[in-house]
Amino acid sequence: MADDAARAAELRETLRYHDYRYHVLDDAEIADIEFDTLFRELQAIEAEHPELVTPNSPTQRLGGPASDLFTPVTHLERMFSLDNVENLEDLEAWQERLVRLLGKEPDAYSCELKVDGLAISLTYEDGRLVKAATRGDGETGEDITANVRTISAVPLLLRGEPPAVMEVRGEIYMPVSAFEELNKRQAELGERPYVNPRNTAAGSVRQKDPAATAERRLSIWVYQVGYLEGGPAFVTHTEQMAWLRDLGLTVNPANKTVVDIEGVEGYVRTAEEARHAHDYQTDGVVVKVDSLADQQTLGFTAKSPRWAVAYKLAPEEKTTLLREIRINVGRTGAVTPYAVLEPVFVGGVTVTNATLHNEGEVHRRDLREGDTVIVRRAGDVIPEVVGPILSQRPAGAKVWKMPKRCPFCGNPIIKPEGEAKAKCTGGYTCPSRLREHLSHFAGRGAMDIEGLGYKTIDLLLSESLIHDPADIFTLEPDDLLGREGWGEVSVGNLLSAIDAAKDRELGRLLAGFGIDHVGGTVARVLARRFHTVAAVAAATEDDITAIDGVGPEIATAIVDWFAESDNQELVEKLRAAGVRMEDPIDDLQAGDLLDGVTIVLTGTLDGFSRDEAKAAVEDRGGKVTGSVSGKTSAVVAGDSPGSKARHAEERGVPLIDEPTFARLLEEGPSVLDRT
Ligand code: IVH
Repeated sequence: MADDAARAAELRETLRYHDYRYHVLDDAEIADIEFDTLFRELQAIEAEHPELVTPNSPTQRLGGPASDLFTPVTHLERMFSLDNVENLEDLEAWQERLVRLLGKEPDAYSCELKVDGLAISLTYEDGRLVKAATRGDGETGEDITANVRTISAVPLLLRGEPPAVMEVRGEIYMPVSAFEELNKRQAELGERPYVNPRNTAAGSVRQKDPAATAERRLSIWVYQVGYLEGGPAFVTHTEQMAWLRDLGLTVNPANKTVVDIEGVEGYVRTAEEARHAHDYQTDGVVVKVDSLADQQTLGFTAKSPRWAVAYKLAPEEKTTLLREIRINVGRTGAVTPYAVLEPVFVGGVTVTNATLHNEGEVHRRDLREGDTVIVRRAGDVIPEVVGPILSQRPAGAKVWKMPKRCPFCGNPIIKPEGEAKAKCTGGYTCPSRLREHLSHFAGRGAMDIEGLGYKTIDLLLSESLIHDPADIFTLEPDDLLGREGWGEVSVGNLLSAIDAAKDRELGRLLAGFGIDHVGGTVARVLARRFHTVAAVAAATEDDITAIDGVGPEIATAIVDWFAESDNQELVEKLRAAGVRMEDPIDDLQAGDLLDGVTIVLTGTLDGFSRDEAKAAVEDRGGKVTGSVSGKTSAVVAGDSPGSKARHAEERGVPLIDEPTFARLLEEGPSVLDRT
């Protein structure tokens, strides 16, 4: 028994040491199989003598109290995000500002890869992991301790001489190899693949059952000390990181300390070139002023430290095979060619299709079926086929031509004079156009009918249950009940979502019509000016162009649309089906609150998506623009604000945070006088 206790203690010690060699030093001394043998030996002793089990034994990763999961955690220090720069010029501007504020050049910079995962905070007390939390809004996050304990790169006990209390920050990520393995398994099971490693990592730590997190091969890089009590005094961030490594925390060995801004630029170049050399995805480089005293002097803005910046890397490129060029017919009848690609993992997602915009673009880029092509994707941006690698073009590859007839309805495809896009002439008899039209009408930007996506639309069309948007509102339970996948509950949900959509604001209905050039913004402007569908229909081009920001092209499209008898019939059919055709006066009064106010949005807001924030401003008569100018009333800075926040400061435009923005929406522009 005494022998068992001693052996168990020794095994724990040995296993921790090998974990450290493997995860922190990336220099394993023993093979995985030997590690497993030691691990099982410890498990066996603990199984025989449960009293020997310690809470932080390497065998106890699955065993944190799951009942605390997702309860709020207030961070010991606020978790800031970073300002972004996108080119060397902006980086130098950042550095010049540092020099101005410090009155000297910083002695050194810490350059770190910005790993694309999710930010977390780990709290250690006397060397024991006591808390792991998500970033949340920066002040308060959620407890994910039980899940994070299952990540083998996170030490449950620190090595050496740990401080009394320490909070460190890091990025949890899913290695690309783990992600690919996971998707291979999904494919074998016939399940849908996961979209990208970042979202999958985020989803994995948010599992309700820690055992589910444990199955995902997650890892972590630690990059910052948040709070420290009873630790040594440090002069630089680099020293701190070296100390964290000694304590057994995984600090990315790709981090490098350089002495000047040229050194930073060199690091950025290497990071760009070596992007695929790592088993994790990077979306940039984080540059930090290394001296902790200088950091203190520089301090923070409302959102981010002045002493650090994120340099975003240019979009990622890969090559793949262009198998085929096909066409789509959209909701306006516009014909869009697209590339069918050999699936390729680029910029964090597997890309299988990419739009080619129009025939002219296909020729301009000289793309042919069978070509090996360069595919590019940046962040959230849609993937793009940059061009072919001509040296790899197969003999006999033919120049692509737009088909003469629509593959969906057989009607001629024509190219109107002076327009880039070809059109299908089948009108709404074209099944592809009708499907896209219905999907747009029911979509989030228009009538927002939950549950009415492509799958349901396809069913309704194939069973001839609907022929136009108005038919949606006269569906009966019996139309769907008893069909595969449709029971009382799902039919009830869909019909009540449809019923709710009858009462949407006028702007949504107008956007749903799919009039050329009339998206959500113009539709809301029209609703505010005319108040009813009938008044919009009766408006002349002059009436419409009299509205600020609405040009003649839009006016013509609106007048033409309402002049078509099919469209008039559609409006009447919608009215007869009980769809609201006007905005109540109450809604309209708020319409002037932000009259003359121009807002620029940057960064991510917690309570609004970009579109919602924009709609909220426009609903009150304000404008949202993309860049800061002399006319800007305020810049709203969310999380990870871009360079617009800096432009605001430079131009003396008020920079407001989300709570102030919310007050602006309630109280009007007087809020800005008080910032
Ligand atoms: S430092 C106060 N270092 O990027 C310092 N962040 O917007 C704040 N990130 O939320 C962060 N790698 O999720 C820092 N080496 C690194 C990083 C890093 C990734 C993420 C982190 C943060 C976001 C910044």
